[in-house]
Amino acid sequence: MKQFVYEYATKVYFGEGAAKKYLEQALAPYGKTVMLAYGGGSVKKNGIYEEITSILKQAGKTVVDFSGIMSNPTYEKVQEGAALAKQEHVDFILAVGGGSVIDCCKIVAAQAKTEEDLWEMEMEKHLFPAQVIPMGAVVTASGTGAEMNGGAVITNEEKKMKSGMAAAAPRFAILDPEYTRSVPAMQVISGAFDTLSHAMETYLGNSDRDNVSDDVALAIMKNTVTNMRRLQKDVNDMQARGNLMWDSAMAENSILKVGRVTDFQAHQMEHQLGAYTDCNHGQGLAVIHPAYYRHIVKDAPEKFARIGKEVFGVNSAEAAVDALAAFIRECGLPTRMGELKSRVEITPELLRQVADTCNVIKSNPRELTHDEIYQILMECV
Ligand code: NZQ
Ligand code: ZN
Repeated sequence: MKQFVYEYATKVYFGEGAAKKYLEQALAPYGKTVMLAYGGGSVKKNGIYEEITSILKQAGKTVVDFSGIMSNPTYEKVQEGAALAKQEHVDFILAVGGGSVIDCCKIVAAQAKTEEDLWEMEMEKHLFPAQVIPMGAVVTASGTGAEMNGGAVITNEEKKMKSGMAAAAPRFAILDPEYTRSVPAMQVISGAFDTLSHAMETYLGNSDRDNVSDDVALAIMKNTVTNMRRLQKDVNDMQARGNLMWDSAMAENSILKVGRVTDFQAHQMEHQLGAYTDCNHGQGLAVIHPAYYRHIVKDAPEKFARIGKEVFGVNSAEAAVDALAAFIRECGLPTRMGELKSRVEITPELLRQVADTCNVIKSNPRELTHDEIYQILMECV
Protein backbone atom coordinates (compact mmCIF):
# COMPACT_ATOMS: atom_id res chain seq x y z
CA MET A 1 0.00 0.00 0.00
CA LYS A 2 1.16 3.55 -0.67
CA GLN A 3 1.27 6.00 2.23
CA PHE A 4 -1.97 7.77 3.02
CA VAL A 5 -3.74 10.02 5.49
CA TYR A 6 -7.43 9.34 5.79
CA GLU A 7 -10.11 11.49 7.34
CA TYR A 8 -13.81 11.42 6.66
CA ALA A 9 -15.59 14.75 6.17
CA THR A 10 -19.20 13.83 5.38
CA LYS A 11 -21.83 12.65 7.83
CA VAL A 12 -24.44 10.48 6.10
CA TYR A 13 -28.12 10.24 6.94
CA PHE A 14 -29.55 7.34 4.96
CA GLY A 15 -33.13 6.12 4.61
CA GLU A 16 -36.72 7.03 4.03
CA GLY A 17 -37.72 10.30 5.68
CA ALA A 18 -34.09 11.24 6.38
CA ALA A 19 -34.56 14.92 5.46
CA LYS A 20 -37.60 15.33 7.71
CA LYS A 21 -35.85 13.54 10.52
CA TYR A 22 -32.33 14.96 10.34
CA LEU A 23 -32.01 18.05 8.14
CA GLU A 24 -32.83 20.60 10.84
CA GLN A 25 -30.35 19.01 13.22
CA ALA A 26 -27.69 18.75 10.50
CA LEU A 27 -28.03 22.48 9.77
CA ALA A 28 -28.04 23.59 13.40
CA PRO A 29 -24.28 24.34 13.65
CA TYR A 30 -24.41 26.76 10.69
CA GLY A 31 -25.61 30.34 10.19
CA LYS A 32 -29.05 31.63 9.32
CA THR A 33 -28.82 32.25 5.58
CA VAL A 34 -29.04 29.07 3.52
CA MET A 35 -28.62 28.98 -0.23
CA LEU A 36 -31.02 26.35 -1.58
CA ALA A 37 -29.53 25.18 -4.87
CA TYR A 38 -31.27 22.94 -7.38
CA GLY A 39 -31.51 21.98 -11.04
CA GLY A 40 -33.98 22.49 -13.84
CA GLY A 41 -37.17 21.96 -11.91
CA SER A 42 -37.65 18.26 -11.07
CA VAL A 43 -37.65 19.13 -7.35
CA LYS A 44 -40.60 21.44 -7.85
CA LYS A 45 -42.61 18.73 -9.64
CA ASN A 46 -41.93 15.91 -7.18
CA GLY A 47 -42.55 17.91 -3.98
CA ILE A 48 -38.95 17.77 -2.69
CA TYR A 49 -38.52 21.55 -2.97
CA GLU A 50 -41.63 22.15 -0.88
CA GLU A 51 -40.58 19.64 1.75
CA ILE A 52 -37.06 21.08 2.07
CA THR A 53 -38.17 24.72 2.18
CA SER A 54 -40.68 23.94 4.91
CA ILE A 55 -37.94 22.22 6.95
CA LEU A 56 -35.68 25.26 6.44
CA LYS A 57 -38.42 27.67 7.50
CA GLN A 58 -39.21 25.53 10.52
CA ALA A 59 -35.50 25.75 11.41
CA GLY A 60 -35.69 29.55 11.22
CA LYS A 61 -33.42 29.82 8.18
CA THR A 62 -33.54 32.56 5.57
CA VAL A 63 -33.66 30.86 2.17
CA VAL A 64 -31.81 32.16 -0.90
CA ASP A 65 -32.87 30.31 -4.05
CA PHE A 66 -30.23 29.35 -6.63
CA SER A 67 -32.00 27.50 -9.44
CA GLY A 68 -31.42 26.22 -12.97
CA ILE A 69 -28.20 24.28 -12.43
CA MET A 70 -27.88 22.27 -15.62
CA SER A 71 -26.53 18.75 -16.14
CA ASN A 72 -22.78 19.01 -16.76
CA PRO A 73 -22.68 22.31 -14.85
CA THR A 74 -20.81 25.16 -16.45
CA TYR A 75 -18.17 27.43 -14.97
CA GLU A 76 -20.42 30.34 -15.90
CA LYS A 77 -23.16 28.92 -13.67
CA VAL A 78 -20.60 28.57 -10.88
CA GLN A 79 -19.82 32.29 -11.19
CA GLU A 80 -23.53 33.15 -11.05
CA GLY A 81 -23.90 31.13 -7.85
CA ALA A 82 -20.77 32.60 -6.28
CA ALA A 83 -21.91 36.17 -6.99
CA LEU A 84 -25.30 35.42 -5.43
CA ALA A 85 -23.72 33.76 -2.38
CA LYS A 86 -21.50 36.82 -1.82
CA GLN A 87 -24.31 39.29 -2.37
CA GLU A 88 -26.66 37.54 0.05
CA HIS A 89 -23.94 36.72 2.62
CA VAL A 90 -24.82 33.05 2.48
CA ASP A 91 -23.75 31.02 5.53
CA PHE A 92 -24.46 27.56 4.16
CA ILE A 93 -25.12 26.02 0.74
CA LEU A 94 -27.62 23.18 0.50
CA ALA A 95 -27.39 21.32 -2.82
CA VAL A 96 -30.60 19.45 -3.62
CA GLY A 97 -30.12 17.33 -6.72
CA GLY A 98 -27.87 14.89 -8.53
CA GLY A 99 -24.15 15.12 -9.21
CA SER A 100 -24.49 18.26 -11.32
CA VAL A 101 -26.15 20.36 -8.62
CA ILE A 102 -23.81 19.02 -5.93
CA ASP A 103 -20.67 19.65 -8.03
CA CYS A 104 -21.74 23.17 -8.96
CA CYS A 105 -22.32 23.99 -5.28
CA LYS A 106 -18.96 22.57 -4.22
CA ILE A 107 -17.20 25.08 -6.48
CA VAL A 108 -19.59 27.94 -5.71
CA ALA A 109 -18.65 27.35 -2.05
CA ALA A 110 -14.98 27.94 -2.83
CA GLN A 111 -15.36 30.66 -5.48
CA ALA A 112 -17.52 32.76 -3.14
CA LYS A 113 -14.60 32.95 -0.70
CA THR A 114 -11.92 34.22 -3.06
CA GLU A 115 -11.44 37.07 -5.52
CA GLU A 116 -9.18 34.85 -7.61
CA ASP A 117 -10.52 33.01 -10.63
CA LEU A 118 -10.78 29.49 -9.25
CA TRP A 119 -10.22 27.73 -12.59
CA GLU A 120 -7.01 29.67 -13.21
CA MET A 121 -5.94 29.19 -9.61
CA GLU A 122 -6.36 25.40 -9.75
CA MET A 123 -5.47 24.57 -13.36
CA GLU A 124 -2.64 27.03 -13.93
CA LYS A 125 -1.21 27.91 -10.52
CA HIS A 126 -2.00 24.48 -9.02
CA LEU A 127 -3.26 26.14 -5.85
CA PHE A 128 -6.34 24.93 -4.02
CA PRO A 129 -9.05 26.79 -2.09
CA ALA A 130 -8.17 27.39 1.54
CA GLN A 131 -11.61 28.61 2.56
CA VAL A 132 -15.11 27.56 1.59
CA ILE A 133 -18.69 28.26 2.58
CA PRO A 134 -19.80 25.05 4.30
CA MET A 135 -22.17 22.99 2.19
CA GLY A 136 -24.32 19.87 2.37
CA ALA A 137 -26.13 17.67 -0.11
CA VAL A 138 -29.62 16.21 -0.39
CA VAL A 139 -29.32 13.59 -3.11
CA THR A 140 -32.24 13.28 -5.55
CA ALA A 141 -30.46 11.21 -8.24
CA SER A 142 -27.63 8.84 -7.39
CA GLY A 143 -24.71 7.42 -9.37
CA THR A 144 -21.86 9.91 -9.18
CA GLY A 145 -21.15 9.64 -5.46
CA ALA A 146 -20.52 13.40 -5.54
CA GLU A 147 -22.20 13.76 -2.16
CA MET A 148 -19.32 12.04 -0.39
CA ASN A 149 -16.18 13.57 -1.87
CA GLY A 150 -14.44 16.89 -2.28
CA GLY A 151 -14.08 16.86 -6.07
CA ALA A 152 -16.32 18.47 -8.67
CA VAL A 153 -16.54 18.14 -12.43
CA ILE A 154 -17.14 21.44 -14.19
CA THR A 155 -17.50 22.34 -17.87
CA ASN A 156 -15.58 25.43 -18.91
CA GLU A 157 -17.40 26.25 -22.14
CA GLU A 158 -15.01 29.02 -23.09
CA LYS A 159 -11.98 26.74 -22.85
CA LYS A 160 -13.84 23.63 -24.11
CA MET A 161 -12.71 21.60 -21.11
CA LYS A 162 -14.71 19.46 -18.72
CA SER A 163 -12.47 18.88 -15.78
CA GLY A 164 -12.25 17.70 -12.20
CA MET A 165 -11.62 20.44 -9.65
CA ALA A 166 -10.84 20.33 -5.95
CA ALA A 167 -13.62 21.85 -3.92
CA ALA A 168 -15.67 21.83 -0.75
CA ALA A 169 -16.63 18.38 0.54
CA PRO A 170 -20.21 18.20 1.81
CA ARG A 171 -20.41 18.36 5.61
CA PHE A 172 -23.36 16.02 5.43
CA ALA A 173 -25.34 14.05 2.85
CA ILE A 174 -28.99 13.08 3.05
CA LEU A 175 -29.65 9.89 1.11
CA ASP A 176 -33.33 9.02 0.90
CA PRO A 177 -34.04 6.45 -1.85
CA GLU A 178 -37.65 7.75 -1.93
CA TYR A 179 -36.29 11.07 -3.21
CA THR A 180 -35.12 9.21 -6.33
CA ARG A 181 -38.54 7.71 -7.07
CA SER A 182 -39.32 10.20 -9.86
CA VAL A 183 -35.93 9.87 -11.61
CA PRO A 184 -36.60 8.57 -15.17
CA ALA A 185 -35.58 4.93 -15.69
CA MET A 186 -32.82 5.75 -18.18
CA GLN A 187 -31.24 8.25 -15.78
CA VAL A 188 -31.33 5.69 -12.97
CA ILE A 189 -29.52 3.16 -15.17
CA SER A 190 -27.06 5.76 -16.52
CA GLY A 191 -26.24 6.85 -12.96
CA ALA A 192 -25.76 3.24 -11.86
CA PHE A 193 -23.44 2.59 -14.81
CA ASP A 194 -21.38 5.56 -13.63
CA THR A 195 -21.05 3.80 -10.26
CA LEU A 196 -19.95 0.58 -11.96
CA SER A 197 -17.43 2.60 -13.94
CA HIS A 198 -16.01 4.24 -10.79
CA ALA A 199 -15.42 0.85 -9.18
CA MET A 200 -13.81 -0.56 -12.36
CA GLU A 201 -11.64 2.50 -12.93
CA THR A 202 -10.38 2.44 -9.36
CA TYR A 203 -9.74 -1.31 -9.43
CA LEU A 204 -7.82 -1.21 -12.73
CA GLY A 205 -5.16 1.12 -11.36
CA ASN A 206 -2.00 -0.43 -9.93
CA SER A 207 -2.43 -1.99 -6.53
CA ASP A 208 -0.59 -4.34 -4.22
CA ARG A 209 -1.70 -7.94 -4.56
CA ASP A 210 -4.43 -9.09 -2.19
CA ASN A 211 -5.27 -5.58 -1.04
CA VAL A 212 -8.71 -4.87 0.41
CA SER A 213 -9.50 -2.07 -2.04
CA ASP A 214 -9.57 -4.52 -4.98
CA ASP A 215 -11.88 -6.84 -3.07
CA VAL A 216 -14.27 -4.06 -2.05
CA ALA A 217 -14.28 -2.63 -5.59
CA LEU A 218 -15.23 -6.05 -6.99
CA ALA A 219 -18.01 -6.35 -4.40
CA ILE A 220 -19.37 -2.94 -5.44
CA MET A 221 -19.24 -3.92 -9.13
CA LYS A 222 -21.10 -7.14 -8.43
CA ASN A 223 -23.71 -5.49 -6.25
CA THR A 224 -24.26 -2.69 -8.76
CA VAL A 225 -24.80 -5.20 -11.59
CA THR A 226 -27.18 -7.26 -9.43
CA ASN A 227 -29.31 -4.23 -8.55
CA MET A 228 -29.27 -2.84 -12.10
CA ARG A 229 -30.67 -6.23 -13.16
CA ARG A 230 -33.38 -5.96 -10.51
CA LEU A 231 -34.37 -2.57 -11.91
CA GLN A 232 -34.73 -4.06 -15.35
CA LYS A 233 -37.43 -6.31 -13.95
CA ASP A 234 -39.06 -3.52 -11.95
CA VAL A 235 -37.86 0.04 -12.31
CA ASN A 236 -39.78 1.00 -9.16
CA ASP A 237 -37.99 -1.58 -7.01
CA MET A 238 -37.13 0.91 -4.24
CA GLN A 239 -34.97 -1.57 -2.36
CA ALA A 240 -32.76 -1.88 -5.47
CA ARG A 241 -32.66 1.91 -5.84
CA GLY A 242 -31.60 2.18 -2.21
CA ASN A 243 -28.88 -0.43 -2.71
CA LEU A 244 -27.63 1.46 -5.76
CA MET A 245 -27.68 4.74 -3.83
CA TRP A 246 -25.24 3.31 -1.29
CA ASP A 247 -23.15 1.57 -3.99
CA SER A 248 -22.84 4.98 -5.62
CA ALA A 249 -21.58 6.64 -2.45
CA MET A 250 -19.28 3.70 -1.63
CA ALA A 251 -17.63 3.79 -5.05
CA GLU A 252 -16.72 7.47 -4.87
CA ASN A 253 -16.32 8.27 -1.18
CA SER A 254 -12.56 7.76 -1.61
CA ILE A 255 -12.36 4.72 0.65
CA LEU A 256 -11.55 2.56 -2.41
CA LYS A 257 -8.81 4.91 -3.49
CA VAL A 258 -6.62 5.16 -0.41
CA GLY A 259 -3.16 3.63 -0.64
CA ARG A 260 -3.33 2.89 -4.36
CA VAL A 261 -3.18 4.22 -7.90
CA THR A 262 -6.38 4.51 -9.95
CA ASP A 263 -7.02 4.48 -13.69
CA PHE A 264 -9.93 6.83 -14.66
CA GLN A 265 -8.87 7.04 -18.31
CA ALA A 266 -12.43 6.21 -19.50
CA HIS A 267 -13.63 9.14 -17.38
CA GLN A 268 -11.05 11.46 -18.95
CA MET A 269 -12.30 10.51 -22.43
CA GLU A 270 -15.96 10.88 -21.44
CA HIS A 271 -15.41 14.22 -19.72
CA GLN A 272 -13.74 15.68 -22.79
CA LEU A 273 -16.44 14.19 -25.04
CA GLY A 274 -18.91 15.89 -22.69
CA ALA A 275 -17.11 19.23 -23.06
CA TYR A 276 -17.81 19.12 -26.80
CA THR A 277 -21.21 17.40 -26.87
CA ASP A 278 -22.84 17.93 -23.43
CA CYS A 279 -23.74 14.21 -23.48
CA ASN A 280 -25.02 12.37 -20.41
CA HIS A 281 -22.07 11.24 -18.27
CA GLY A 282 -23.13 7.63 -17.55
CA GLN A 283 -24.23 7.10 -21.14
CA GLY A 284 -20.96 8.45 -22.54
CA LEU A 285 -19.12 6.01 -20.29
CA ALA A 286 -21.28 3.11 -21.48
CA VAL A 287 -20.26 3.86 -25.08
CA ILE A 288 -16.55 4.25 -24.33
CA HIS A 289 -15.82 1.50 -21.79
CA PRO A 290 -15.91 -1.64 -23.99
CA ALA A 291 -13.77 -0.08 -26.73
CA TYR A 292 -11.25 1.21 -24.17
CA TYR A 293 -11.09 -2.14 -22.40
CA ARG A 294 -10.51 -4.02 -25.66
CA HIS A 295 -7.38 -1.86 -26.03
CA ILE A 296 -6.02 -2.51 -22.53
CA VAL A 297 -7.26 -6.01 -21.70
CA LYS A 298 -3.83 -7.52 -22.44
CA ASP A 299 -2.17 -5.02 -20.10
CA ALA A 300 -4.06 -6.23 -17.03
CA PRO A 301 -5.19 -9.79 -17.87
CA GLU A 302 -5.42 -11.01 -14.28
CA LYS A 303 -7.48 -8.06 -13.17
CA PHE A 304 -9.90 -8.37 -16.08
CA ALA A 305 -10.16 -12.12 -15.49
CA ARG A 306 -11.20 -11.44 -11.88
CA ILE A 307 -13.92 -9.03 -13.05
CA GLY A 308 -15.06 -11.78 -15.42
CA LYS A 309 -15.16 -14.45 -12.75
CA GLU A 310 -16.51 -12.46 -9.80
CA VAL A 311 -18.86 -9.99 -11.49
CA PHE A 312 -20.10 -11.68 -14.66
CA GLY A 313 -19.36 -15.39 -14.07
CA VAL A 314 -17.19 -15.86 -17.16
CA ASN A 315 -13.78 -17.45 -17.49
CA SER A 316 -11.29 -15.13 -19.17
CA ALA A 317 -10.16 -11.52 -19.39
CA GLU A 318 -11.50 -11.16 -22.95
CA ALA A 319 -14.81 -12.76 -21.94
CA ALA A 320 -15.09 -10.18 -19.13
CA VAL A 321 -14.94 -7.33 -21.65
CA ASP A 322 -17.50 -9.10 -23.87
CA ALA A 323 -19.74 -9.66 -20.83
CA LEU A 324 -19.52 -5.97 -19.90
CA ALA A 325 -20.49 -5.00 -23.46
CA ALA A 326 -23.41 -7.47 -23.38
CA PHE A 327 -24.52 -6.08 -20.00
CA ILE A 328 -24.55 -2.54 -21.43
CA ARG A 329 -26.80 -3.78 -24.28
CA GLU A 330 -28.99 -5.67 -21.80
CA CYS A 331 -29.53 -2.43 -19.85
CA GLY A 332 -30.58 -0.56 -22.99
CA LEU A 333 -27.73 1.92 -22.57
CA PRO A 334 -26.28 3.54 -25.70
CA THR A 335 -23.50 1.54 -27.35
CA ARG A 336 -22.50 3.93 -30.15
CA MET A 337 -21.67 7.65 -30.34
CA GLY A 338 -24.65 8.22 -32.64
CA GLU A 339 -27.04 7.12 -29.88
CA LEU A 340 -25.81 9.81 -27.46
CA LYS A 341 -27.86 12.95 -27.08
CA SER A 342 -25.38 15.54 -28.30
CA ARG A 343 -25.74 19.26 -28.96
CA VAL A 344 -23.56 18.94 -32.08
CA GLU A 345 -23.00 16.24 -34.68
CA ILE A 346 -20.28 13.83 -33.56
CA THR A 347 -17.89 13.79 -36.53
CA PRO A 348 -14.35 12.34 -36.88
CA GLU A 349 -13.03 15.93 -36.75
CA LEU A 350 -14.80 16.52 -33.45
CA LEU A 351 -13.46 13.26 -32.02
CA ARG A 352 -9.96 14.25 -33.11
CA GLN A 353 -10.33 17.43 -31.05
CA VAL A 354 -11.69 15.45 -28.11
CA ALA A 355 -8.73 13.05 -28.31
CA ASP A 356 -6.13 15.78 -28.66
CA THR A 357 -7.43 17.70 -25.63
CA CYS A 358 -8.08 14.62 -23.49
CA ASN A 359 -6.12 14.28 -20.27
CA VAL A 360 -3.87 11.19 -20.36
CA ILE A 361 -3.53 9.18 -17.18
CA LYS A 362 0.16 8.53 -16.84
CA SER A 363 -0.09 5.39 -14.79
CA ASN A 364 -2.00 2.36 -15.86
CA PRO A 365 -2.90 -0.21 -16.92
CA ARG A 366 -1.02 1.47 -19.79
CA GLU A 367 -0.43 5.10 -20.75
CA LEU A 368 -2.33 5.83 -23.98
CA THR A 369 -1.27 8.20 -26.72
CA HIS A 370 -3.64 10.84 -28.10
CA ASP A 371 -3.70 8.85 -31.36
CA GLU A 372 -4.83 5.72 -29.56
CA ILE A 373 -7.53 7.70 -27.75
CA TYR A 374 -8.72 8.90 -31.16
CA GLN A 375 -8.72 5.31 -32.40
CA ILE A 376 -10.77 4.19 -29.37
CA LEU A 377 -13.29 7.00 -29.85
CA MET A 378 -13.58 6.19 -33.58
CA GLU A 379 -14.28 2.55 -32.71
CA CYS A 380 -17.36 3.81 -30.83
CA VAL A 381 -18.86 5.60 -33.86
O1 NZQ B 1 -32.26 19.37 -13.33
P1 NZQ B 1 -33.43 18.59 -12.83
O2 NZQ B 1 -34.72 19.11 -13.31
O3 NZQ B 1 -33.39 18.39 -11.36
O4 NZQ B 1 -33.34 17.12 -13.53
C1 NZQ B 1 -32.26 16.25 -13.31
C2 NZQ B 1 -31.37 16.06 -14.55
O5 NZQ B 1 -32.10 16.31 -15.71
C3 NZQ B 1 -32.82 14.86 -13.12
N1 NZQ B 1 -33.21 14.56 -11.73
C4 NZQ B 1 -32.46 14.64 -10.62
N2 NZQ B 1 -33.18 14.22 -9.55
C5 NZQ B 1 -34.41 13.91 -10.01
C6 NZQ B 1 -34.44 14.13 -11.40
N3 NZQ B 1 -35.53 13.90 -12.16
C7 NZQ B 1 -36.64 13.44 -11.52
N4 NZQ B 1 -36.68 13.18 -10.19
C8 NZQ B 1 -35.60 13.41 -9.41
N5 NZQ B 1 -35.65 13.10 -8.10
O6 NZQ B 1 -31.77 13.98 -13.48
C9 NZQ B 1 -31.03 14.58 -14.54
C10 NZQ B 1 -29.57 14.30 -14.36
O7 NZQ B 1 -29.08 14.92 -13.20
P2 NZQ B 1 -27.50 15.15 -13.02
O8 NZQ B 1 -27.28 15.72 -11.68
O9 NZQ B 1 -26.97 15.89 -14.21
O10 NZQ B 1 -26.97 13.64 -13.12
P3 NZQ B 1 -25.82 12.92 -12.36
O11 NZQ B 1 -26.17 12.72 -10.95
O12 NZQ B 1 -25.49 11.74 -13.19
O13 NZQ B 1 -24.59 13.96 -12.41
C11 NZQ B 1 -23.79 14.10 -13.55
C12 NZQ B 1 -22.66 15.09 -13.32
O14 NZQ B 1 -21.78 14.65 -12.25
C13 NZQ B 1 -20.43 14.59 -12.75
C14 NZQ B 1 -20.63 14.28 -14.20
O15 NZQ B 1 -19.49 14.53 -14.98
C15 NZQ B 1 -21.78 15.20 -14.55
O16 NZQ B 1 -21.35 16.52 -14.75
N6 NZQ B 1 -19.63 13.65 -11.95
C16 NZQ B 1 -19.30 13.99 -10.69
C17 NZQ B 1 -18.49 13.21 -9.89
C18 NZQ B 1 -18.09 13.62 -8.53
N7 NZQ B 1 -18.23 14.87 -8.15
O17 NZQ B 1 -17.61 12.81 -7.74
C19 NZQ B 1 -17.96 11.93 -10.36
C20 NZQ B 1 -18.53 11.45 -11.64
O18 NZQ B 1 -17.57 10.66 -12.29
C21 NZQ B 1 -19.01 12.49 -12.58
O19 NZQ B 1 -18.00 12.95 -13.43
ZN1 ZN C 1 -18.34 9.12 -13.21
